[in-house]
Amino acid sequence: MKTQVAMIGGRPSGLLLGQLLLKPGIDTVVLERKTKDRVLGRIRAGVLERGLVALMEQAGCATRLHAEGILHDGAMISYGDTMFRVDFTEHTGHPVIVYGQTEVTRDLFDAHEQAGGATVFNVEDVAIHGADTDAPHVCYTVDGVPQRLQCDFIAGCDGFHGVSRQAIPLNVRREYEKVYPFGWLGILSQTPPVHHELIYANSPRGFALCSMRNDSLSRYYIQCSLSDKPGYWTDAAFWQELKRRIPADMAERLITGPSIEKSIAPLRSFVTEPMRWQRLFLCGDAAHIVPPTGAKGLNTAASDVHYLYNALRDYYENGSPAGIDGYSEQALARVWKAERFSWWFSSLMHRYPDQSPFDLKMQIAELEFLRTNAAAQRAMAENYVGLPY
Ligand code: FAD
Ligand code: DHB
Repeated sequence: MKTQVAMIGGRPSGLLLGQLLLKPGIDTVVLERKTKDRVLGRIRAGVLERGLVALMEQAGCATRLHAEGILHDGAMISYGDTMFRVDFTEHTGHPVIVYGQTEVTRDLFDAHEQAGGATVFNVEDVAIHGADTDAPHVCYTVDGVPQRLQCDFIAGCDGFHGVSRQAIPLNVRREYEKVYPFGWLGILSQTPPVHHELIYANSPRGFALCSMRNDSLSRYYIQCSLSDKPGYWTDAAFWQELKRRIPADMAERLITGPSIEKSIAPLRSFVTEPMRWQRLFLCGDAAHIVPPTGAKGLNTAASDVHYLYNALRDYYENGSPAGIDGYSEQALARVWKAERFSWWFSSLMHRYPDQSPFDLKMQIAELEFLRTNAAAQRAMAENYVGLPY
């Protein structure tokens, strides 16, 4: 098989880039390791920045997002029983949209299928060859049958555990990492959200987040130990722990019910540099991970897609390599700002095993400052709604 751009990974980064490139007629093939159902089975992000929404519009996939997504003009932050609101729209002129990553992925799959885009599921043994030559290709197997895909460029959109990043030689690649000493236990439940806006809660028992997908579907998270397993937590234990971490008036009105999904995510900050090696480009979680606090992961993947899409388009339509030559530097400049925000917000909201009484006082002082200072709230709001591309 032959294509212009081979995409490894068929979740949001790969699908969005593939769908965008189809529009101006750039030929792509998306290779995905899992089945479509398994890709759609993972519950992840819920908060979309306007940059991602604009890309979905450009890709012709935003109809359902606009119909079903919920505009959020602000979010609540609590510590103990003190709760305050940061108004995003007042400070920045922009809201965020609550719409699940699963739905973004479903919309992209549907549009890609309708547009005749090529997606190959269930691929195994994916290997990148010749990314530093004029004849790059990707080898893989489907149902045990070896395949070879020749291409001009390879977009590594295969997440943190993918093969693309490993294809960049060690003497070229530089990695930066911080692993946090806790995880997030998340549940999805068919219950109305406790509050109409998200609540990020700092409590002596650890962090909690009250989020949602719609009026009758809630998403809640609590900070948990890295040694926990979802099965250790009964629904009753989860609800009891959540209630202890959010302000008392919110706990009183929380409506509980059976969980329909329960999973644990570890927290990590990670960046690999450069994001381009010859004819291979890294995009999204393949190149960087943020802790989920502040909802920057998927949104940062989207800004990579924006830069790479424009670079490839410029190359194919105008013969200009300037965009692809500048991709890594341009993408990384924004990535590091999202890393900083997610690290800061995580540090502010979680309990760390080695936190001293002084460290705790600093957290509370910073929360007090944020509660009472308009400039601090504005800085937070600018980052939360997404820095401009
Ligand atoms: P992935 O979603 O990791 O997709 C990579 C794909 O590549 C997968 O489908 C995988 O099967 C495939 N793949 C891997 N290896 C291979 C291979 N060798 N061959 C072929 N295919 C391969 N982000 C936000 O912006 N907002 C939020 O609110 C938010 N909340 C989150 C909550 C949680 C609990 C978690 C865990 C994450 C959250 N994120 C959030 C982060 C967000 O989900 C990720 O940043 C996003 O999924 C990245 O998309 P991606 O396409 O780059 O990578
Ligand atoms: C969600 C996840 C986040 O990490 C976040 O900061 C906000 C919302 C969510 O899954 O709804």
